[in-house]
Amino acid sequence: MIVRDKISIFTGSAHPKLAASIADMLDLPLGLAIVNRFPDGETNVKIDEDIRGSDVFIVQPTCPPVNDHLMELLLLIDCCKRASAGRITAVVPYFGYARKDRKDEGRVPISAKLMANLLVTSGVDRLLTIDLHSAQIQGFFDIPVDHLYARPVMMDYLSKGVTDKTVFVAPDMGSVKMVRAYAQHLNAGLAIVDKRRLDAENTTVENLVGSVDGMDVFLIDDMISTAGSITEAAIMVKRFGANKVFLCATHAVLCGDALAKIEKSDVEKVAVTDTIPQHNEMSDKFEVLSVSTLLSKAISRIHRHESVSSLFQGRS
Ligand code: R5P
Repeated sequence: MIVRDKISIFTGSAHPKLAASIADMLDLPLGLAIVNRFPDGETNVKIDEDIRGSDVFIVQPTCPPVNDHLMELLLLIDCCKRASAGRITAVVPYFGYARKDRKDEGRVPISAKLMANLLVTSGVDRLLTIDLHSAQIQGFFDIPVDHLYARPVMMDYLSKGVTDKTVFVAPDMGSVKMVRAYAQHLNAGLAIVDKRRLDAENTTVENLVGSVDGMDVFLIDDMISTAGSITEAAIMVKRFGANKVFLCATHAVLCGDALAKIEKSDVEKVAVTDTIPQHNEMSDKFEVLSVSTLLSKAISRIHRHESVSSLFQGRS
């Protein structure tokens, strides 16, 4: 049974700053959770307060080091379940392992499905997440999934820079639906880069569908990992006559030399969110927008059994 007025927010080590900011907005203390390592490297967790019957939210993006953060999340869920929490929601603003969501060649795993199985098996009751790599991943879970869009956060920022010379560009076919939604909401045009992935680190772009000639381009993607896709796409749109190029991505994984690649690119500005904790060494080319208000509103609605989709009414 859920004790309706009892709500608890916990975090592992992935993003305590975001968790603290969400708790602050909800006017709640961050729950007492101990997360550390045993001498042999195994993860150890303990919830240090009574959560019997409580509506528990565990804030933990599964960002790099993904395996550590995932393990912490699974153990925290198990721990809450065994401590008789009323309901457990995993708040995973960035859902790692999402890109392997189908068998695109022989003898490979469907990692995103395995992640879903692991979470459900650990005892979680709901998932709250933002901009999954593909929306269909929701179907891998046989529990409710609240899939939020970072779009309202991004649009408030982007709308200041949109003019009649703006075109939104999808850096690959997979992001067309998301980018079309931005273009529609901000009354701008749409173009699509025809990207082919060669391997985990390299992509090649061959064609551009639509026109960017003389236009300011907003390249929108769900994530920037090595920054290969987005910087290649930026080169491509410049070659096709784009004026200024801006990047926008929900999840800034920024691994390897991604930051350096972006810094030395022709890109004017990059907007990302804080679904993943951000590097101190980012230059002022970067703007980090917070999803904490969006998540705190969603948590409050879930707790009160209110609609979450209404957060996006008129904007999704
Ligand atoms: C691909 O399908 C995704 O939407 C991103 O474009 C991609 O995962 C980004 O990865 P990277 O920055 O390593 O090119």
